[in-house]
This record gives sequence, C-alpha cells and structure tokens, in this order.
Amino acid sequence: MLALLLALVAQRQTTNFDQAWRFHLGDVAGAQQAAFGDSGWRALDLPHDWSIEGQFKEQNPAGVAGGALPGGIGWYRKAFTLPADDTAKVVFIEFDGVYRNSEVWINGKYLGKRPYGYSSFRYELTPHLRYGKQRNVVAVRVDNSQQPNSRWYSGSGIYRHVRLIKANPVHVDQWGTYVTTPAVSAESSQVTIRTSLRNERHGEQPIVLSTVVLDSAGKEVAAVATMGRVAGDSIAELVQDLTISRPVLWSLERPYLYRVVSRVMCGSTACDNYATRFGVRSFVFRADSGFYLNGKAVKIRGVCLHHDLGALGAAVNTRAIERQLEIMKAMGANALRTSHNPPAPELLDLTDRMGFIVMDEAFDMWKKEKTKYDYHLDWDEWHVRDLSDMVRRDRNHPSVFIWSIGNEVMEQWNDGDSTAAPLARALAGIVRGLDPTRPVTQAANNGSPANPVFHAGALDLLGHNYHHEVWKDFPTQYPGAKFIITEAMSDLNSRGVYEQPSDSVANYYWPYDKTKGPQPPANGRLSSYDNSHAFWGSLHEESLRLFERYPFLSGIFIWQGIDYLGEPTPYEWPARSSYFGVVDLAGFPKDPFYLYQSVWSARPMVHLLPHWNWTVGDSVDVWAYTNAEQVELYLNGALQGVRRKEEKVGHLMWRVAYKPGTLRAVARSAGLVTTSAVVRTTGKPTRVALAPDRSRIRANGEDLSFVTVTVRDRRGLAVPTAEPLIRFRVSGGARIVGVDNGDEISHTSFQAKQVRLFNGKGLVIVRAGRSPGTITLTAEGKGLAAATARIALK
Ligand code: GAL
Repeated sequence: MLALLLALVAQRQTTNFDQAWRFHLGDVAGAQQAAFGDSGWRALDLPHDWSIEGQFKEQNPAGVAGGALPGGIGWYRKAFTLPADDTAKVVFIEFDGVYRNSEVWINGKYLGKRPYGYSSFRYELTPHLRYGKQRNVVAVRVDNSQQPNSRWYSGSGIYRHVRLIKANPVHVDQWGTYVTTPAVSAESSQVTIRTSLRNERHGEQPIVLSTVVLDSAGKEVAAVATMGRVAGDSIAELVQDLTISRPVLWSLERPYLYRVVSRVMCGSTACDNYATRFGVRSFVFRADSGFYLNGKAVKIRGVCLHHDLGALGAAVNTRAIERQLEIMKAMGANALRTSHNPPAPELLDLTDRMGFIVMDEAFDMWKKEKTKYDYHLDWDEWHVRDLSDMVRRDRNHPSVFIWSIGNEVMEQWNDGDSTAAPLARALAGIVRGLDPTRPVTQAANNGSPANPVFHAGALDLLGHNYHHEVWKDFPTQYPGAKFIITEAMSDLNSRGVYEQPSDSVANYYWPYDKTKGPQPPANGRLSSYDNSHAFWGSLHEESLRLFERYPFLSGIFIWQGIDYLGEPTPYEWPARSSYFGVVDLAGFPKDPFYLYQSVWSARPMVHLLPHWNWTVGDSVDVWAYTNAEQVELYLNGALQGVRRKEEKVGHLMWRVAYKPGTLRAVARSAGLVTTSAVVRTTGKPTRVALAPDRSRIRANGEDLSFVTVTVRDRRGLAVPTAEPLIRFRVSGGARIVGVDNGDEISHTSFQAKQVRLFNGKGLVIVRAGRSPGTITLTAEGKGLAAATARIALK
C-alpha cells in the first residue's frame, strides 16, 4: 500500500493553473518581488485578454488593422503553496501562449522572456521554490505596448492556458514523445515511438520504458518494454517499434484516435506516466492529381482562420473554438490554415477529434518587417526556437498534414532577393529535422515564376496566395511540382446587406484612397451578394470554379472562414473588423456560405437571398445557391422563371418586381424535387426571441451557450431588417461574457449587457458557473414582448 502510494506520488501531476491570478493593467516597479502587495489588483482567472475589455478608438496605436483596441503593458501574479513532501520533485510552469514579450519570475527570480506571442513554453521553478506554509509567487509581465506589431487583432495578456507540472526528476521531457506510423495498410500499421527521457539527477539512471498503445475504447492493442540508461543531467532518446494489426485509420469521416501511454520505471519506482494521442493514416500529394488520404483522393477544402474568437477576443475557450469548427464543417469545409501563427493546443485537439486537415503555420514575417514592431525584431534571436517548438509541440496531431514556414514574407517579393532562398532552405531544414513525415510549404503572393522562394528547392508543396488567373499555367510553369492554394478570395460582404442591382462587380482599391474608384459605400456596409472583392483577390465564385476544375490543385484555403477583428479592408476607421469572412464575427453565415455548401456538401440544399422586405416598385435581384440541377422561383405562387445551373459552381438569378408576400424556390434534379426554400415578407416586430445553440451546458465554469437573438412579427417570422436595442439579464450562476451583432463598424463594447441587432440578428454569449442548476436568460427591447431562455447547467 505504502509502495503504491509512493509510486503515485512519484509520478507526474498536471494541475490547471488558470485560477486565482491578480492582474494590473500598466507597468509597476517591483511587481516581480514575492513580497509585493497586490491585494488591490483585480482578481481574475485565465485565459485573459485585456485588449478586448478596452474601448475602440481611432487613436489606439494598433490601428484599425489591429482592431482599434488598446495594447499596453500588464502584470499578472499568482500565489501558491506546495506541500512539504514535494521537495523531491521537479516543478514546471507551462504557458500555452502569452501575447507578447512575456517575462516570468518566481519568488523574485527571473526565469526568462518569450517575445513571440504564439509560442508555447515552460520554465522550471524547482530551484527557487518554497515548501510547506511558505508562499510562492509567480509574476508575469506582458508587454504589448510597442505598436503596431501585427496586421490583425492579437489580443494582449496570458490569453491561453497555464499548467503546473510536478514530476519525478526522471521524466518524459516536454513534448517528449514523437509517434510516427511509417508503414500503414489495412492489415497493419507500424508505429514508431521516440521518447525523450530527461534525468535531472546527477547520477546515471537505469530505466525501463513500458509503452502501451490503447485504442479509443482504452483497450490495449500493442505494447513494448525497453531497458535503458539516462546519464545524469541529460536527455536520452529511446526508439521503440510496435505493430497494430487491422488498425482503424484516422479519416475525415471517422477521425479515430489511439493513445500511447509511456510508463517510466526507475528500479521499483514508477517515475512517470505520460499520454500521447495519435492517429494512423497515410497520405500523399501528387503533382498531377492532388491529395490522397488513406489512398482516397480528397480535395482539401479549407478556410484560413485567425485566432480571435470574436466578442471573446483572443482568450482561449474550447467551446468557442469548437463552435467555429462546427460552423465551418456545416459549410462543407474539411480543412483549415492557422493563419498566420501556431494555434492554441485546444484547436488541434479539436481538429484531431472532428476530422479536419490542418496547415500549421509558423510566421507572418521573417527577417523583413511588415509592421514596425513586429516579430522581425526578434527574428535573429528566436526563430529557430519558435519554429522548432511549434513542430515539436504539434507533430503528434493526426490532423496536422502540412507545415507552413511563412505567409507572404517580404523576402519573396523581390525576384532578385538573395536572402530568400537560403532562409527558406534553413527553415524547411529545421522542420524536416524534427518531422520529415509532412510536406513543407510557404504561402506566397508574389505570383511571379521567378519568386526566389519557389526556386529555393526548399518546398515540398508550392503554396500560392491569390492570382487565380495564373493557376492554369502551374503544371507548365513548374513541371513536376505539387500545388496548394494557400489563400484565395478576399471577397467582401456585410451580413444581410443587399445593394441593388447585384450584377456589377466592384474591385476595391486599398489602402483606402478617396481618389481611386470604385468607392465602397460611405455607410461602411458592403453588399452580401458575391460581387465585390479586394483587388488582389476574386469573387468567391471565380476562384472556387477554377479550384474545383483543376485536379492538380490539392487544396484551397479561403480568406476567410470567419470574420476577425482588425483589417477592415477596404475601409479605415470607423470600421474595425474584417469584411472577408464567409461568416460574420458573431458566427452568423453570410450568403456566400451557401455557395460553398452548394459545392462542398452533398445534402440537397437551396438557399434564397435576399430577404423579402422591400418597397413596392423596387426591382430586386433574387439569387439562389443550390446543388440541384435547376430551380423554379415563385412569387405568391406565380412562376418567375426556371434557372438551370450551367456549371457546378455558381448562383442563379432572377430580377423580380417586388410585391410583398412569399418567395418560394423549388430545387429539382432529374425531374424530381430535391428540396425547397421560402422567404416571406414580415410584419413589424412584436417580441424578442432567444435561441441557444445548446440548451444544456456543463457546470465547469468554462462552457458557453451562444444564444441567437432575433425579433419576431405577430406570425412568428424573424424580421430580417429590424435593428432594435435588446438588453439582457441572467441568473442561475452564469455570466454574460460577450455580445455581438456582426456589424463591422459598431463601437459598442463586446462586454456590454445589451446589443443592437444588425440586420435582424444579435448574439449573446453566456458562460457557465460551477454549480449545476438552471440558467435563466431574459431579453427585453422597447415595445417588444420580452423573451426568456432556460439553459440547463449539468
Ligand atoms: C493576404 C494576407 C492575409 C490578409 C489578406 C486580406 O494577402 O495573407 O493575412 O491580409 O491578404 O486580403
């Protein structure tokens, strides 16, 4: 019994370290000292983003590109004690990401800094710790004051999770397992596990490493034990080979996960117990016909996503990320690009579980700057470490298929740049040294065939951004090369906005210049017909059509899946978030969402736009997206015409003289009705309606309910043009943590307890408390019957 207890005590203990921090916005002298008085500081739990709490201001130095929110300097402190019997252990603090320039102290001792805000890192605390009743204080200074340092909203602070790890001095190192499946077939899969064992004792340590592979039900499917020795104060790698017979392959339809459990025995003491999830899959990219997963051709239908979570800012929340992925999946996307930085670890856990193909990207710049204070300043000292850490952290994720060493780096712009090729080779070399199992790419927007990065001999996949007009030339221009469209579209829309007529295309100039046409509408709202784009991009339809046509294009990543804070091209202030998303910042689909659905999903669908609340005499362009062969359109029962889809990608259009009533689209293939859609003229709003995305959430203090707010007429129809102000109250141990409406020019705080609907929709985000019960959310608006939603907290 005692032996068992000792064995357990000796093993790794990982504790969530997010709770009970103190925070102060602004720099403070001496705040790293353990004795510093922080009782006046704000108490909060991590993850935390202080920028999202700030006010939108034109003068904020991040500019509108950075979301017009403040940066600055902030301090975090947390006090904790350790039991006296922890003295035999080694203790680490692990940060998933701090934006940016974090510096960490324990009990006044400086542990180090980390400039790049997207890297995960840890420090060993052991030599500086106190035990028993004595207090320890960890202090973190975060400096995001030098602005601009990003082309999009970054957030500020300890915006990802933190953990405390206690381990035996002999343990599996940080990211210390590397699992590969060098030979995969239906009959068996070879599994190679490289385990880095770290011995912090001075003397050599004989060990036995027992490695077990478990299937998703937890049943052992393979096991091996290896004896080894780890010299004092060093790290040793042990390589083990196993075979799984009749493996269940990881696929998009069935993202099956195995688990490796590594047990380290030091004599009769169990020193460590470490788990690694992995998947068994095989894939290949071909020059002529694209990507194959487990032998089956798959088009990579992807989206670029920035890391912010809309109204929640950059502060990581697993449910918020999961919701984004669910929305992308409903559109038919099967892939995403972590533009343009390493993601939160939770994102990759989700893509592993949900079945997405991920392009994991390291940098938006190399040595040459994009903005004055960006990472180029840290490049020389840090890029090897940051890139290596990304690969070491992420290489066991089965959903990661592609490494990207950069996005649109300035070095690729000048065809004669002599620094570009050696740098590309060095970076690709770092990646391959740590993981030769995945291709390396880079997202280039210098479409010139002389682009020096393309000729560096560094890339396994040539990654192109934009320039859809030259895609057809790739096979002749780069014979034998493999291609991926790392970024495309940059189409521009505001949800629910419909400018008439719809059949002329606006190609917006940027930077914003009042002397250059066409000018975007002065009200800051862009039409949601697919008819405007940034000059370097295209309509959704144009690039999608070409992508689906050319088999040599293995994949595409749309700019952008979901609107993000910052970069409100083609506008400047007062706009503060993007127009590029197929989905708005609040998570509501814009109409082009259904274009992708019509091409990327098999379920019969027809989507009709716009709404049907116009003025008699208006001429309105009605569009339909469908995957059927043809659509009949009826207005109040009168046929307005039949339109056939001439090709797979495209919309159907009718120009209709507006009359109030019912617009009905009937989709038909091979003569049979596949589905239909209806849009009705609504009356005035009479009541508020709330629709939680989930009516039951977990009482874990983190789970979220995303509640859609609409107003209804007396027939119960949602009024698509209404924009009333709606106020919220919540009870039942929950908090309102965000409101939004997807409006790119709203300056209302996301942390308000009210929202003005934008084109008929608003969002309120409710965060679970820790005790089970019932959450009651009430919504009221002037002249409207109130609504109440109940959400069970389990
Ligand atoms: C691309 C760039 C993205 C974003 C986009 C907007 O060139 O890679 O980060 O700026 O343009 O259209």
